[in-house]
Amino acid sequence: MLGLKLLTDPRWANIAEGNLEEILTDHAWCEQKAATNAITIITYNSEHEDLVTSMTEIAIEEMEHFKMVHDIIKERGYTLGRERKDDYVNQLFRFMKKDGSRNDAFIDRLLFAAMIEARSCERFRVLSENIKDEELAKFYRDLMISEAGHYTTFLKFAKKYSEKVNVDKRWKEWLDFEGQLIQNYGTKETVHG
Ligand SMILES: [Fe+2]
Ligand SMILES: [Fe+2]
Repeated sequence: MLGLKLLTDPRWANIAEGNLEEILTDHAWCEQKAATNAITIITYNSEHEDLVTSMTEIAIEEMEHFKMVHDIIKERGYTLGRERKDDYVNQLFRFMKKDGSRNDAFIDRLLFAAMIEARSCERFRVLSENIKDEELAKFYRDLMISEAGHYTTFLKFAKKYSEKVNVDKRWKEWLDFEGQLIQNYGTKETVHG
């Protein structure tokens, strides 16, 4: 699925379902971070009109997702907890190239975003197929489709705007790194836990 090297053990969905307040809180903050990342890409690459248009749409969509998750939290009488640290995303952030040319850093930022979208999409699929809560199963199926669209968009712009980076080769490096990294996860009630 989406080139991922290792698929999530479906038992993770049962762990997640065992603490819905926690996974919903973590999920809400994932959406906020995705919106923030799209805004950051706009800030540093404002000369590309199509990119700015697309990242604006993604930022809005991610905050719509945040609202949907927050609405579910409220409906169920839960509380949106404080922002959670996302160790998985922090490790991917460390792998992202920040040196080299401005274009190198730009392309790797897009691949970083594509990587998170790909895994989030896969995690939402696992949730939608395995949890017993029908409302949430449908919710995660809808989100899965939306995040898959974001994944495609980030990869498309990486290929379009790369000056010297071999995007296919670098994307393989991302998939290999992520495939190793994700082996340490799958035990916590967070989206990437
Ligand atoms: Fe989202
Ligand atoms: Fe997304």
